Amino acid sequence: MLVTGAELLQDAHKKGYAVGAFNVNNMEIVQAIIEAAEETNSPVILQASQGGLKYAGVEYIAELGKLAARNANVPVVVHLDHGTDFDQVMLCIRHGFSSVMIDGSRFDLEGNIAITKKVIEVAHAVGVSVEAELGKIGGTEDHITVSERDATFTDPEEAKRFVDETNVDSLAIAVGTAHGVYKGEPKLDFDRIKVIKEITDMPLVLHGSSGVPDEAIKKAVSLGINKINIDTDLRMAFANAVKQFVKENPDNIDPRKILAPAKAAMKERIVEKMKLFGSAGRA
Ligand code: G3H
Ligand code: ZN
Repeated sequence: MLVTGAELLQDAHKKGYAVGAFNVNNMEIVQAIIEAAEETNSPVILQASQGGLKYAGVEYIAELGKLAARNANVPVVVHLDHGTDFDQVMLCIRHGFSSVMIDGSRFDLEGNIAITKKVIEVAHAVGVSVEAELGKIGGTEDHITVSERDATFTDPEEAKRFVDETNVDSLAIAVGTAHGVYKGEPKLDFDRIKVIKEITDMPLVLHGSSGVPDEAIKKAVSLGINKINIDTDLRMAFANAVKQFVKENPDNIDPRKILAPAKAAMKERIVEKMKLFGSAGRA
């Protein structure tokens, strides 16, 4: 069933687990995520970036997501990932997304608060949840790139002011992760997660979570992370499976045969993540 982000993440916040938010661009990815969620009895978030919406079209993504949610026997959120402007967010709300992210992290604190409040006023009026980002997460997520030099960790006092003034449903924090493939091992600032959790007492979101060691993820969840975004790990599972299949079956021209192992590989990764995040068995 389709549920809001707030509904799902409040439960995770109260009970101390995290829900996986996986990026979708096509039918096979949506199916892989839903099959993994049903197999592990896990709530799940299907999220599309602006790049994903540009690739598939907002209508295709919205309808695919809503259809998958309607038919699933676990709670499913259809979420906009890193929405950067007001119009983009409104378009997704109009197409039935149950949750949106407004990423105002390129603005100063006042500007970020202002655009987040503007989105929340409309979104909450129609029952849609809102995630915002405070601090700057490094790396590249589709069209958004933040250099290592520009990445800044979230300040706990600013986080408190931000959530009090905006009434946002969940907050993405910058604590040492980055979007894309890591060069070295990421070092998470666990104390910062703990302090932000204590001071805000609300669902917190970890972006750039692909490639973060399992132990670090577990610790982040134990300290208060409730939504974990995964894109790169799924891309890698997909791409590696396609490459291997094509190498072993160079004469095959059937898209269904080529994509079947990619879907299976993504599903396997997602099942592992759901168990690791603690969402398995929580549907
Ligand atoms: O918003 C999406 C995520 O933060 C994905 O990050 O590609 O490093 O897994 P990732
Ligand atoms: Zn992200």
